[in-house]
Amino acid sequence: MNYNFSDPTFIVDPYPTYKIMREHDPVYKSPMGYWVLTQYTDILNALGDSRLSNQPSRYAVIGKRNINKYISAEIANNIIPFMDQPIHKEQRRLISKAYFSHLKETPPDINLLAKNLLEKHYSKGHIDLIQDFGKPLSTQVIAENIGVPTEDWGLLEKWSELFFYLFVPIPSNEILLKMEEGLALFRHYFSNLLNLRKNRPENDLISKLIGTRYNETYLTDIQIVDTCMLLFADGVENIDSAIANSIVALIEHPEQLILLQKHPEKSRLAADECLRYDPPAQLIAKIAKEDLLIQDKLIKQGEAIILVLASANRDSQYFAFPDRLDITREKNNHLTFGYGKHACIGGRLATDQIEAGIMCIVNNLNELTVQNNESYRVPRFGHRWFNSLPLSFTKRSTSQPLSL
Ligand code: HEM
Repeated sequence: MNYNFSDPTFIVDPYPTYKIMREHDPVYKSPMGYWVLTQYTDILNALGDSRLSNQPSRYAVIGKRNINKYISAEIANNIIPFMDQPIHKEQRRLISKAYFSHLKETPPDINLLAKNLLEKHYSKGHIDLIQDFGKPLSTQVIAENIGVPTEDWGLLEKWSELFFYLFVPIPSNEILLKMEEGLALFRHYFSNLLNLRKNRPENDLISKLIGTRYNETYLTDIQIVDTCMLLFADGVENIDSAIANSIVALIEHPEQLILLQKHPEKSRLAADECLRYDPPAQLIAKIAKEDLLIQDKLIKQGEAIILVLASANRDSQYFAFPDRLDITREKNNHLTFGYGKHACIGGRLATDQIEAGIMCIVNNLNELTVQNNESYRVPRFGHRWFNSLPLSFTKRSTSQPLSL
């Protein structure tokens, strides 16, 4: 069977297709030559399989052969999502050490940031969940964490949007050109910031990255610069859409929205459940380092394998009633943040922001209506992203029950 991943109905709702694939073609070879895994167990095993590489495929524009040709290839070569062991372990250990120690010393007050953003829109009765809420929230959290001055946030947001094209193996010439220009500026920005902090360290992540040592190892200047780009882009790009996807899911399941309003203590479970139900990043790719068998299919060395994390999250072999949003779901081992050696470093911070974002809206607003017009959706295979998502509401007083 052929599946069309660029079909508009698939972009609007990919989950019925994933279900058919899990049931009939769990290890599917696309006409383009890449493999697609959709069952939880296969995906979990693949995430822990050292025969699979994170390095770009031999066809990818950002591959090693283009390091001297494209700045994008040079950046990809310096950042951990595209590295294998042992270099990955060494570099990730340094980044994690700096990142978690800074977060522990200077935790952001996410609830307050979310409240301040929403308050500005109370009187209007509508808000763009992406542009007015999720994006400024995630930008402020990661920008303050890294140490980016307020006046530069807008510029960086623009460049960070281009960062995710690194994960498109063969971008069009137009995209490649945009990516090259934007990432060169993005890089130049963090090089300047790095030099400032080398002379005068501050209480921020970039200063921590400069000073971090593990045994004899440390990050070089250019590794720090490229890592800051990675952390900034990762910190901004998925979170706004994760909040928007969560609110859409809750509005589509009004009984869950009411349950959450009555039981705000379930906020963490609710955030995890929304992340399971409709994750903003749907998949990741790996390359077979050698011939290997998955179920009864032979995957040849060099072939690409797409792991559809969002499909694993809906696998009925693993989750009871997976197509049901259930904010009381316990033991929610979703794969939205991956698993194993490359698992998302910012998963905890991301979940904190999604939890704060959801609860700020659920606790303060009534009569939520989203204009879930599909033209707001970014039509990209692999992402459930919105450019914009208008939400209308009435302001809820604390004593007032939620009405839909
Ligand atoms: C909803 C938001 C987010 C989602 C859905 C997400 C998802 C992911 C996924 C699926 C991976 C790959 C895991 C794998 O290969 O096994 C990943 C890796 C990563 N994420 Fe996130 N992420 C989010 C937010 C963040 C934030 C806020 C940060 C940092 C502040 C971050 C930093 C990273 C880094 C550095 C990696 C690379 C880890 C490695 O290769 O070792 N992410 N993320």
